[in-house]
Amino acid sequence: MNDKVDLLDQMLHITTDLFFEAESSLLLDDLPEAPATILDIGCGNGAYLANLKERYPSAACTGVELDRPMYMKAALRNDRGMNLIHGSYERLDEQNAWDLIMARLVILHMEDVGGFVKWVCNRLHPLSRVIIIDFDDARLQGNDRLPLFLSLYRQARQSLRGRRTFLELPDVLKLEFQYGGLAVVGTKRYAVRADSPSKKAALYSYMKLSTKYLLGEPLSAERADELDEWLHDPDADMEIPMFGMNFARSPVEGSGAKEAISS
Ligand SMILES: C[S@@+](CC[C@H](N)C(=O)[O-])C[C@H]1O[C@@H](n2cnc3c(N)ncnc32)[C@H](O)[C@@H]1O
Repeated sequence: MNDKVDLLDQMLHITTDLFFEAESSLLLDDLPEAPATILDIGCGNGAYLANLKERYPSAACTGVELDRPMYMKAALRNDRGMNLIHGSYERLDEQNAWDLIMARLVILHMEDVGGFVKWVCNRLHPLSRVIIIDFDDARLQGNDRLPLFLSLYRQARQSLRGRRTFLELPDVLKLEFQYGGLAVVGTKRYAVRADSPSKKAALYSYMKLSTKYLLGEPLSAERADELDEWLHDPDADMEIPMFGMNFARSPVEGSGAKEAISS
């Protein structure tokens, strides 16, 4: 058994459950037509791709996942006829032009973001769309009920971003995709809040799992108390800010599409 893989697997199920509906209406509803071919790069445990397949049942859905144990999680649960591939995305060397390429919570794990964007831009046709989704670090608020968790989370995000530019990720992506001939069709900024008991319970589980995942050890009593007190305090809130960007070949900009910001 691989503890880290099991922890990440559970975390990805939670984020898929928390965000898919919002992302579906904010980002997928904007597509010009239902995609017939979808590529999910860094598909993790396949939970998000399974939701995409449910939304577009006749689409050919392909997921590529670098980490073998995580790929196995996806492959073992693949009851929806998704095409799952183990390896880095560059492995898909055939020059397919996908209707939709999705990269969710994966960009900061890429060694070479410029190379990734170039690869993606070379696998599109004129009506393809690319959707990039990630945590919106710039909008993460302080929370005096969660000092230990938030400082750990911030450190983890900082170490992923660390060696990169001072620009925020959405700005980096805009520039990189522009260089590849794509324009931003829409940037959606949204958040999930602990505003119902079920969302609060899901966020609590997410914070517990990610603490164990990031520290590589069981939860200390102090960290467990912080999260338990937060859970049981009806006034204690928490918000996870996200962004989703929708890219298309540049001529779409000239045809009237504008960058839309919604929160
Ligand atoms: C945080 S998970 C996100 C999983 C999924 N996209 C989701 O939103 O639930 C990021 C995944 O990207 C994978 N990954 C990182 N670099 C990759 C690459 N070059 N090719 C394919 N997968 C990659 C990692 O192994 C990891 O499972």
